[in-house]
Amino acid sequence: MRADMRTQVGIVGAGPAGLLLSHLLAQRGIDSVLVEIRSREYCEARQRAGVLEAGSVALLRQAGLASRLNQEGIEHGGIYLQFAGERRHVDFRELAGRTVTVYPQTEVVKDVIARRLADGGAVEFGVTGTEVAGLDTDRPVLGFTDAHGQRHELACDAIAGCDGFHGICRPAFPAGYLTVREREYPYAWLGILADVPPSTDELIYSRHPRGFALHSLRGPVTSRLYLQVSHDEKIDEWTDERIWDELDRRFELPGWTLQHGPVLDKNITPMRSFVATPMSYGRLFLAGDAAHIVPPTGAKGLNLALADVAVLAPALDRLLRGDGSLVDAYSKTCLDRVWRSTHFSWWMTTMLHRTSAADDMEAELQLAQLRYITSSRAAATSLAENYTGYPDLAARTHLT
Ligand code: FAD
Ligand code: DHB
Repeated sequence: MRADMRTQVGIVGAGPAGLLLSHLLAQRGIDSVLVEIRSREYCEARQRAGVLEAGSVALLRQAGLASRLNQEGIEHGGIYLQFAGERRHVDFRELAGRTVTVYPQTEVVKDVIARRLADGGAVEFGVTGTEVAGLDTDRPVLGFTDAHGQRHELACDAIAGCDGFHGICRPAFPAGYLTVREREYPYAWLGILADVPPSTDELIYSRHPRGFALHSLRGPVTSRLYLQVSHDEKIDEWTDERIWDELDRRFELPGWTLQHGPVLDKNITPMRSFVATPMSYGRLFLAGDAAHIVPPTGAKGLNLALADVAVLAPALDRLLRGDGSLVDAYSKTCLDRVWRSTHFSWWMTTMLHRTSAADDMEAELQLAQLRYITSSRAAATSLAENYTGYPDLAARTHLT
């Protein structure tokens, strides 16, 4: 590729990882160009995660990105676990001394895009033909065609692959270089966004013989709900009426009613655990879903993406000053947290989802574990400290 432009860090992908990285670098006086295949509107509307760990909130505050989060984020001090006809509360505040905040990924993305553009940051939406080359040199090249059809070859000091699970950066690593650990689950989540106030003050994770259900929210008048469905389920077969009927059954509790409302959005998300190591090759560094995916139970995906770039930004800063020690440690530093969250998400998923109606052994094991968590302070504390974020990112802010 011919290099006709220059930046310090080329960033691929305007999800939470790429956007926050470009902001953290700018705060350190490092310039970057961020390229994104989708439009700004698409990135800002894409319905995904909803829960921020305490450390993610601290990170966004420290980065000066939290004015709307502080106003509109809804702090939650725990969750409900529902099983065997009972709904029990797990109190994070009391057990772990920390909380989580419901603030949708769409809003995090809007906030960082607005700030990058206000600060004069280079964010190119609607690009095509993204390519990376020269990864094992100290002048890697990021190629792309901008929204006006102009081709660019950008000489960089480093490239950050923040382009999600289906991006081009991970496949650009040499064949055989990565070690991949992967698990697919035989079920998926059907998620809806509904124009109705939440029927609960905190999230409800419900294990039910018909399958898992989750009641979350997007604000005081908007609910977000999920149903476990088969991995090959067709969204067209789920009318709004059928979805509400199934949600009613899986959350049923005497004296409690699930409020229904118009469905604004519905989609099906597959469930997968995936970790690729190491997270870097030469001058290409992966962050977020580009390197690892967790099943959504436990709300870790977004938080892991933010945590990766909190490590990557200072590491790149040092690299650009001639000290490669932090980038050399980047993968290992991130992977401790990634594997903890990968285990937690797998554990929450397998404890709450039904694999087969015939598997009575699995059902009894799940119920035994749920009873243990809701009766033993030690067990509940383990859930609480993992859900609110472990290790606590706030304890590692010297890295940012
Ligand atoms: P992404 O948000 O995926 O961003 C990557 C960006 O790169 C995208 O904007 C993409 O368009 C862009 N891109 C891709 N290829 C290229 C290219 N070649 N050139 C330029 N740009 C490119 N997590 C939860 O905790 N709870 C949930 O309920 C939940 N639901 C999810 C639903 C779906 C459908 C998906 C896919 C994920 C969900 N997640 C959820 C996970 C969470 O949203 C992700 O972990 C988070 O988005 C990761 O952020 P990221 O920045 O690493 O990647
Ligand atoms: C949400 C998603 C999750 O995966 C989860 O565990 C909790 C909440 C959400 O989208 O609100």
